[in-house]
Amino acid sequence: MSRVYNFSAGPAVLPEAVLERAQAEMLEWGSSGMSVMEMSHRGKEFMSIAGQAESDLRELMEIPDNYKVLFLQGGASSQFAMVPMNLLQGKKGADYLNTGSWSKKAIAEGQRYCTVNLAGGSPEGTFSTPSQEALKLDPNAAYVHYTPNETIQGVEFPYLPKTGEVPLVADFSSTILSRPVDVSRYGLIYAGAQKNIGPAGLTVVIVRDDLIGDPLAGTPTMFSYDTLAKAGSMYNTPPTYGWYLAGLVFQWLKENGGLEAMAVINERKAENLYAAIDGSDFYDNPVDPDSRSWMNVPFTLADAALDGTFLEEAREAGLVSLKGHRSVGGMRASIYNAMPEAGVEALIDFMAGFEKRHG
Ligand SMILES: Cc1ncc(COP(=O)(O)O)c(C=O)c1O
Repeated sequence: MSRVYNFSAGPAVLPEAVLERAQAEMLEWGSSGMSVMEMSHRGKEFMSIAGQAESDLRELMEIPDNYKVLFLQGGASSQFAMVPMNLLQGKKGADYLNTGSWSKKAIAEGQRYCTVNLAGGSPEGTFSTPSQEALKLDPNAAYVHYTPNETIQGVEFPYLPKTGEVPLVADFSSTILSRPVDVSRYGLIYAGAQKNIGPAGLTVVIVRDDLIGDPLAGTPTMFSYDTLAKAGSMYNTPPTYGWYLAGLVFQWLKENGGLEAMAVINERKAENLYAAIDGSDFYDNPVDPDSRSWMNVPFTLADAALDGTFLEEAREAGLVSLKGHRSVGGMRASIYNAMPEAGVEALIDFMAGFEKRHG
């Protein structure tokens, strides 16, 4: 077996210890005589797995008791619709911040349900975040939606926007669990699992109790947070294996010092990689230094004709999935929690060697 350093933006690298534990439990979980995949979601074994995962996530993120934690299907993309369907609650409009590709998708979906007020963002063609002072928030908006970390552009908010009484809604898909966050400042947090939580197919939603209960007329039953919350995320068959694996990741995080420890490591990984890029005339990162992501680091080579060679030689060195998103070009290194520091160091060494050979 030879495992590579996988810089994919998602589905992404998982902690090796988690995969080993899943492997050890593949044929029989506990003394159940079966794999987690084969269990009834309503049986006592799976109920204990599900409950433990939720309580570990609550502990890791210090989620207050007046928030529900939902383990759903449909990806973050379904949340683009579920948020307006559930949170408009009689209001006609919502504020959205636009800082990149995923903001735009959330906005396009939001526009199907409400009047979207573009309350701030990065000027077209730039890789930045708006300052708090630049936000033009509507005090009557149903909510303010933003993307704390834009996975494609590598743009991350360096601050938590203040929205007064208006609930703040955040697509945390590519930055959840990367550092501590004050959940009580949010109305709703959602994240597709396949970057920093677990395998694809699971979506986590953390929502304040008072925001659910009055979905838009016509909202499909499966899209009602209230219905899903009342059923403990088991209105229908939940993504059981993804839920279990997420639980293993939460345990791994707890064993490794929780989110504070992750923040220290993640900051160091990102700083080292940005320093390598900034210290070279051969590599470039387009993002405003104040808004650089800890999780997704796009970079370009001085000569784009070398992109193919870079990817080929990187693969030979055991560094894979570095191709940038087609809309940005160049390279992108996603360095989520499960990417070890040694992986980032290996990438930095490889980049220096490549520059020497080809620069
Ligand atoms: C920030 C962000 N939002 C939304 C999505 C879409 O997630 P999903 O594929 O789970 O719908 C992604 C996926 O890459 C993402 O990075």
